[in-house]
Amino acid sequence: MIHVEHAVKEFKKIVKQPGLKGSINALFKPSVEIVTAVNDVSFDVNKGEIMGFIGPNGAGKSTMIKMLTGILYPTSGNITVAGYNPQKQRQQYVRHIGVVFGQRTQLWWDLPLSETFTVLKEIYQVETKRYQQRMGYLNEVLDIAPLMTSPVRTLSLGQRMRADLAAAMLHQPKVLFLDEPTIGLDVVVKDNIRKAIAQMNKNDETTIILTTHDLADIELLSHRIVMIDQGKRVYQGTLSDLKERFGKSKKIEFVISDMEQPIEQLLSQRFQQRGVQVYLENERGTLIVDRSIPSAIILKELLDLIAVKDISIKESDVESIIKEIYLTKASYE
Ligand SMILES: Nc1ncnc2c1ncn2[C@@H]1O[C@H](COP(=O)(O)OP(=O)(O)OP(=O)(O)O)[C@@H](O)[C@H]1O
Ligand SMILES: [Mg+2]
Repeated sequence: MIHVEHAVKEFKKIVKQPGLKGSINALFKPSVEIVTAVNDVSFDVNKGEIMGFIGPNGAGKSTMIKMLTGILYPTSGNITVAGYNPQKQRQQYVRHIGVVFGQRTQLWWDLPLSETFTVLKEIYQVETKRYQQRMGYLNEVLDIAPLMTSPVRTLSLGQRMRADLAAAMLHQPKVLFLDEPTIGLDVVVKDNIRKAIAQMNKNDETTIILTTHDLADIELLSHRIVMIDQGKRVYQGTLSDLKERFGKSKKIEFVISDMEQPIEQLLSQRFQQRGVQVYLENERGTLIVDRSIPSAIILKELLDLIAVKDISIKESDVESIIKEIYLTKASYE
């Protein structure tokens, strides 16, 4: 359904030297720097699949979504969605997709929510009977009827997100793009939004790409994930594969009580050669250790080496696996 081949997106950024002189120079003789937001990314998404798109801030996720929806032109590479080229066939293409940017609403801000739906009905030429059917269904899934008479600007974030999702789904698109659909929501509302997404995916066989920083979204919704970092794809596969392949380590977290010691040096001398990864952030430290090494051995060595206030051992969960991938900037493909 979605086919992305060697997609690249470069942005030109004007770099300015500090101060007034720099500003004037930038005006007349701008020096341009190229930022590669998406760097040779390829992946496929099958019909009816939910693909989770993850990566740290600035990784290039939103840029990728904007290329997929046709808002941005790729610098190079090929993108096909539902058989369309999103840029060249934009007019026909938009009838088949729905888009939600969690950070920004697509709804008419000052008008009652119902007006947005009336306008969308016209834009997508949804006939009246079908429209009523669809609104009934969307109300069932997203409970939007009570919001209809309120101006959009008065809706809470959670209400607005429900309305945005319904608006994106009115014309029953084949593909739905969700850029951070659960951002800023409380746990209960997040849960409702996830259920609604899962239900729409199931009922309509909607193919969905979703970006998120909340790994629970991924665990509960995605069939597969693509992970990008600094514009590059670093992982593609299922979540269970990721756990299987990289969940072979455990995490020993500790709080250092005596910061006067040369801690970093002591720890890396002792541990790094043995394949134990050492991370320090102020008085907090983490060791990532292969599961086959008994914890008792590592703990004893650690306690002999430095003074520690507190200590805990954790089996690696998805969150720590992903954190490890982000931290080490490694490619795991
Ligand atoms: N219009 C633009 N002009 C210049 N640079 C841009 C533009 N849009 C994005 N970038 C840069 O491209 C990179 C990727 O940005 P993008 O918004 O795609 O990241 P992201 O993965 O969505 O991050 P986040 O998780 O914070 O939303 C960043 O370095 C960003 O500064
Ligand atoms: Mg983004």
